[in-house]
Amino acid sequence: MQRSGADRILLGMTTIVRTDRPALTETALQMTSGGRGVLAADESIKTMSARLEAEGIPASDVTRRDYRELLLTADGLSESVSGVILADETFGQELGDGRHFPIAARELGILPGIKVDTGTTPLPGQDGALITEGLDGLGGRLASYADRGAAFAKWRAVFDVGTTTEYVARANAHALARYAALCQEHGIVPIVEPEVLCTGDHPLAASAETTGLALTTVFDELDRAGVDLTGIVLKPNFVTPGLNAPKASAHDIAAATFEVLVDTVPAAVPGIAFLSGGHPTEDVCAFLKELSAVPNRPWNVTFSFGRALVSSALRAWGGDADSIAAAQRELRENCRQAAAAALG
Ligand code: G3H
Repeated sequence: MQRSGADRILLGMTTIVRTDRPALTETALQMTSGGRGVLAADESIKTMSARLEAEGIPASDVTRRDYRELLLTADGLSESVSGVILADETFGQELGDGRHFPIAARELGILPGIKVDTGTTPLPGQDGALITEGLDGLGGRLASYADRGAAFAKWRAVFDVGTTTEYVARANAHALARYAALCQEHGIVPIVEPEVLCTGDHPLAASAETTGLALTTVFDELDRAGVDLTGIVLKPNFVTPGLNAPKASAHDIAAATFEVLVDTVPAAVPGIAFLSGGHPTEDVCAFLKELSAVPNRPWNVTFSFGRALVSSALRAWGGDADSIAAAQRELRENCRQAAAAALG
């Protein structure tokens, strides 16, 4: 088995492979402890371009780069942010000062990560349910990202409460597990993201059921794939009613989320970093605060929000160089709020 990043020590005729698993655990803990969390800035070119255009900013590789530079270089970001998930385009781009993004991130005290799935496509015969793609050639890409400084990676599987059958859960979980095993072979911590979408008007119980099915199946496939659970970060959704359904209290959401997680996520997992899923910043911070206050939690809990951290910053920037400081203030404040919630 290839173990890039592992030490191979030759002693006479014996080769001792000292695995890099403890290093993976170290990284996973670094990403999810001390109240710090992960900034998701890994929107695809298509999604990022649409978000820029929605704010009246012409989309190009330059404006996408400028926006990501503004986020990464916000003063003091590393006080609340342990890692940043980058898209492939950004990973290869340079800041204004000539440093590549992953190098600059490390110098700023933030671990660089890379989104490696290539998006979703309908799974044939499954009522529109989606499967995530990107396994072909993934080993080679991970080797290159590791050489260029990636500490962790991300793969997102998407589940809809209306279309997630056992077959859909199994197909997506299988891909997630193959990705996670490959990451660990390359010395990269896999963020395992099974996202149950909160779009729609379903009740909280429907989200709990689909989240339970997705997580049970994911951990079964991770086990079959030989993934070391002490070297992953889980990135799930909070268990909530659909965004168009009547709201539940933060207390009820945290209780429902904990109930599903404690039934499905082994204690060996070092950290759980939640996605925001389109919920407002104040709401997801309230969910996280309640959850982090649950006694006897076996894993670290923190945030790996995208929109909840960056949406107001993008709006404040608007593509105007004079508004960079205002945008960075927005980002810092959102991250500070999320970090305070992670500390309970
Ligand atoms: O894959 C999803 C992102 O990493 C998190 O984005 O917090 O806007 O849902 P979100």
